Amino acid sequence: MKAPIADGGKAMISPRRIAKRVREVGQEISREYADIDQPLVLVVILKGAAVFAADLMRSLSIPAELEFLRASSYGSGTSSSGRVKLAHLVEGPLTGRHLLLVEDIVDSGRTINVIVKELQKQKPASIKLAALLDRPARREIPVDIHFTGFVIPDRFVIGYGLDYAGLYRELPGIYCLG
Ligand code: IMP
Ligand code: MG
Repeated sequence: MKAPIADGGKAMISPRRIAKRVREVGQEISREYADIDQPLVLVVILKGAAVFAADLMRSLSIPAELEFLRASSYGSGTSSSGRVKLAHLVEGPLTGRHLLLVEDIVDSGRTINVIVKELQKQKPASIKLAALLDRPARREIPVDIHFTGFVIPDRFVIGYGLDYAGLYRELPGIYCLG
């Protein structure tokens, strides 16, 4: 089964560019948190951010713990359903911890908005957001993205963890859905 890629199969963002940018973002994050007196907590938003998080974590030069949250809003279409479902897989108490949310793409902003509100209830020391992709064209709720990989145009993308109906996460680059 061939992936439905637009633009004659050409990547919007090649694996090489992703690797380079993820290393840079990892360095930015390491500088930002260089002086905290406890490990950073990466809160990875499943499933899409799993691939980004695995690479990002290995680009850090500071200690980091790993937690996971499951969020879903898209169902199997290419536009948001508007509702966000959250499943809590975070184990430890997050009170007083520095949290870095790791997300694949910020689109309407609804997912991140719900997650931030939910995590704030646990009174962490700080919450920041690292997003591989930012697609501002469809934003409905303003979102502060502290570490951004790439800003992309208004196209639905697949690959490097991002799916269409659960598929194509394994593609090494980021491609427009054809
Ligand atoms: P938001 O809540 O509208 O910001 O949507 C964010 C979530 O929708 C992301 O975590 C992705 O899982 C999913 N999503 C949004 N745009 C895309 C896309 O272009 N490809 C794949 N998944 C997407
Ligand atoms: Mg996602």
